[in-house]
Amino acid sequence: MYRDNPLSKIAWEDFQKLELAEKGPYFMRGGRPYHALIAQQFDRAQLERIGDVATKIRKIGKTKGGINFLQDLLSEKRAMLYFSQPSSRTFLSFYAACQIVGMKAAEVRDTSTSSEVKGESPEDSVRTFSSYFDMIIMRHPVGGFAERIAWLLSNTDRPVPLLNAGSGKDQHPTQALLDIYTLQRSFEDLGGIDGKKIAFVGDLARGRTVRSLASLLTLYKDVKQYFVAPDSLQIGEDIVAQLQESKVELEVCDDCEKVIPEVDAIYMTRIQDEWDTAQESRAVDTTPFHFTAERLPLLKERAIIMHPLPRRKEIAVEVDSDPRAMYWRQVRNGMWARAALMLIVFERDGEVDRYYADLTS
Ligand code: NCD
Repeated sequence: MYRDNPLSKIAWEDFQKLELAEKGPYFMRGGRPYHALIAQQFDRAQLERIGDVATKIRKIGKTKGGINFLQDLLSEKRAMLYFSQPSSRTFLSFYAACQIVGMKAAEVRDTSTSSEVKGESPEDSVRTFSSYFDMIIMRHPVGGFAERIAWLLSNTDRPVPLLNAGSGKDQHPTQALLDIYTLQRSFEDLGGIDGKKIAFVGDLARGRTVRSLASLLTLYKDVKQYFVAPDSLQIGEDIVAQLQESKVELEVCDDCEKVIPEVDAIYMTRIQDEWDTAQESRAVDTTPFHFTAERLPLLKERAIIMHPLPRRKEIAVEVDSDPRAMYWRQVRNGMWARAALMLIVFERDGEVDRYYADLTS
């Protein structure tokens, strides 16, 4: 699988200057993801492939024989979960995904217990740790850190694939993959994602899941995107520019009531106040951006409500039992989509196709 390594052929300074779309090909090998670092590296065919493999894994995993088959696929591999930023759901989702495909997993969660306190650079730490493993799954507070490590390891004699499990305020590509998978499944009998209207609500300025998903949605035809937030928490100009460049129809507004009846999916997010510098988001009244039970009748019958979780007050608990509440399904989808991604990275997805074909023939 180590045919060609484009990241070893470019200087870090030159790489950093590239636009996101230009960086994408550096993370791919032979048309498939080797690293998964930014949403912009994926094309539509790859998103469909990830969804297809995820569905097959989900169905194969319904029997003990199927579970054993899946667990054998990557049983010779080991993954390091390097999470230097709080996480339980994404951490466990990746951990469970490793278990599904039989990859052994070890974790580094608190870098204060590592040699970084002895003055070792984070780059050296990750390089040392990676020596024990075949894949790195990384969450990091610094945007671009995962890219730096991927570049660094690509220029050693032991590169390993790296999956970005959330970096800074900028990217959360695997969350976007599972969100796309959720949309694919929800609109399966409604013509797919093409032509749908999707609203993002909440802290769009600092929500990395929104930034990654908005970007992936540009790969679908005639999708209208709405960004519904208080002024100070509105979506970044860079994303607006990217959507405009892709000729995406978009609406930036602060009127939740008006938007709810128009959309096929509403993607709720929490206020990301861990990024506040002077508790500035406390001054913002976010209640108009909450999805309360009273708002359920406004929503189309087949529309869905999504949330990357964790939730605070932006979705009332009473909404959970509505069939359109899709956030718990989203969590399960994440596990399968991540397992699918791991198999695709290690080129073992073909075995899933063959097993599934036998199962259904
Ligand atoms: C998100 C994140 O970490 O960006 N959580 C997640 O991975 N599901 C969203 C959030 O923290 O609000």
